[in-house]
Amino acid sequence: MQEIFDKANSVLEEIKTTVAENAEQAEQFRIKYLGTKGILKDLFGAMAQLPGEHKKEYGQLMNTLKASAEAKLEELKLNFDSGKSSSKEIPDLTAPGYDIPLGSRHPLSIVRNKIISIFSRIGFVVAEGPEIEDDWHNFTALNTPQDHPARDMQDTFFLTENKNLMLRTHTSSVQIRKMESEKPPLRYIFPGRVYRNETISARAHCTFHQVEGLYIDEHVSFADLKQTMYYFAQEMFGKNVETRFRPSFFPFTEPSAEMDISCFVCGGKGCPVCKHSGWVEIGGCGMVDPSVLENCKLDPKKYSGFAFGMGIERITMLKYQINDLRLFFENDIRFLKQFSAAD
Ligand code: DAH
Repeated sequence: MQEIFDKANSVLEEIKTTVAENAEQAEQFRIKYLGTKGILKDLFGAMAQLPGEHKKEYGQLMNTLKASAEAKLEELKLNFDSGKSSSKEIPDLTAPGYDIPLGSRHPLSIVRNKIISIFSRIGFVVAEGPEIEDDWHNFTALNTPQDHPARDMQDTFFLTENKNLMLRTHTSSVQIRKMESEKPPLRYIFPGRVYRNETISARAHCTFHQVEGLYIDEHVSFADLKQTMYYFAQEMFGKNVETRFRPSFFPFTEPSAEMDISCFVCGGKGCPVCKHSGWVEIGGCGMVDPSVLENCKLDPKKYSGFAFGMGIERITMLKYQINDLRLFFENDIRFLKQFSAAD
C-alpha cells in the first residue's frame, strides 16, 4: 500500500521537473501523464484496491497530481508558443502601414446630390414619398385616365394581394401627396426610385431613379419653368449649354414639353452622344394641369405651377458618357471607383 503512495509522489516530482524544448515534447508530456492510457489514469485506477481508511488521503494526492499535470502542460505549451514569437520576428515598428482602401460615392448618388444642390440654391426643398403607391397618387389624381397605356400590366408592377397598390412608376406621385397636404407656395424636388416592368437592356431597367420638381404659387408661368430649367442645365452641364422645349403630351401637365439641351460634348455640331442631332433630351415638363390642382383641392383660378421630371440614370449617362445602364446596378468596383464628387 505504501508502494502506491510512493509511486504517486515520485510521479508528482517527475511532473514538476519536466521541461520541454518544443511543441512535440509538450504533446508527449500530455500523452504520457494525461492521455487516455496515461500514468494518471492507472494511478486513479489503483484507488479501488485501497482499504477504505486510505482512500481519502490517496484521493487528495491524486487531485494534486492531476492539477499539477494540467498546470505543467499549460506552462509547457505557453513556453513553446511565446518562444516562437519572441524568437526572430520582432516587428519593424517604423515600417509604413497598409493603405486602407477608400470607397467612393456611386455615380448616381453623385449626380442626385448635385441636382439637389443646384435646386436647393433657388429655394427648392427635398421631399420623399412611398415606393408602394395607390392608384390615386400614381395615376388617377395625375389625370391619367383608366385606359391610359401607362396603366397596362406590361408597364406597372401591381401588388398581387391588392391590385389598387403598385410600385410607383414615377416620382410624380409625390407631387400629389404634397399638394394634398400643404398650401402653396410649394417649391419641392422629389428624388427617388421608380419601377417599371421593362426588359432589362443597355437602355432600360425595371428599376431606376427620377427627380421630380414642383413649383406652385400664384402667377407662376411657363417663363418661370423655362428659366428654371435653363438655370439647371447650365449648372449641371456648363455655361455654354442652350435649352430648347418641344411640344409634348403628359396627362398631368398642360401645356407639356420635352426639354432638350444643346450637346455639351460637341457643342451642338453633332457627335455620337447626341446621335448627330446637336441636341439631347433630358426630361419632361409642363404647367400643372388645372384638373390635377382640383384633384388636390387647390383652386386653379388662384394657383398655377409647373412640374418637371428627369431620369437620374439618363443625366448620369450623359454627363459621364456611359453607354450601358446595367453598369449602375452591377456594383463592379472597377466601374464605381472612377467617379468623384468633384467632377
Ligand atoms: N412622370 C413623367 C415620366 O415618368 C416625367 C414627367 C414629365 C414629370 C412631365 C413631370 C412632367 O412632372 O411635368 O415619364
